[in-house]
Amino acid sequence: MISVSPSLISPNIPTHSQSSNKPVKLGIMASGSGSNFEAVAQAIENGQLNAEIKVLIYNNPDAYAAVRADKRNIAAVLINHRDYKHREELDKQIVQTLCQHDVEWVIMAGWMRLVTQELIDAFPQKIINIHPSLLPSFKGVKAIEQAIKAQVKITGCTVHLVSLEMDSGKILMQAAVAVLPDDTPDTLHTRIQIQEHRILPAAIALAVNSEQ
Ligand code: GAR
Repeated sequence: MISVSPSLISPNIPTHSQSSNKPVKLGIMASGSGSNFEAVAQAIENGQLNAEIKVLIYNNPDAYAAVRADKRNIAAVLINHRDYKHREELDKQIVQTLCQHDVEWVIMAGWMRLVTQELIDAFPQKIINIHPSLLPSFKGVKAIEQAIKAQVKITGCTVHLVSLEMDSGKILMQAAVAVLPDDTPDTLHTRIQIQEHRILPAAIALAVNSEQ
């Protein structure tokens, strides 16, 4: 099997927690299974990330991320985008919830909604997203299907700061994953997620550190 070492792409993954003794307060936003939420929680448990998850916000009532939060006794708040007419109203509610939980940094770990200025202004340069491609390639939805369709030989994942323009903020960390000839979106996603779980906590530590 062909494999590409992600260390070639992101050689400086920190293996220790950031310098400040005070855990950074995170709010995580997720829409689905929450495996990246879990990876962040595990990195905190293992002492790789000096942080505390104050709240999980999820927008799909059946998101498994909420079950994961419950199991860890982390507050999980459903904010269903279907209940809001305008994206600004949705983001206002999200900001209010994040502030109520004293959140300092926001992590979009599988959040599938576009953000508005409301959220950006409330947490300037402090919103992080993970996306399943090597940005700037394959922005938006179905990034893995896009990569397969384009017949690229290497894709991967990117952790970046969130800006108003979709999937376009400053890149914090990337990892590469080979696309195999018989890959389906599912098989490729599984290998990309292994790298996501590795670089998301590391990129959070990097971002928080460089801000101190
Ligand atoms: C992740 O693969 C993440 O990269 C992707 O959603 C998945 C969530 O998985 N995000 C996007 O596509 C954002 N545009 P998870 O719920 O198991 O963490």
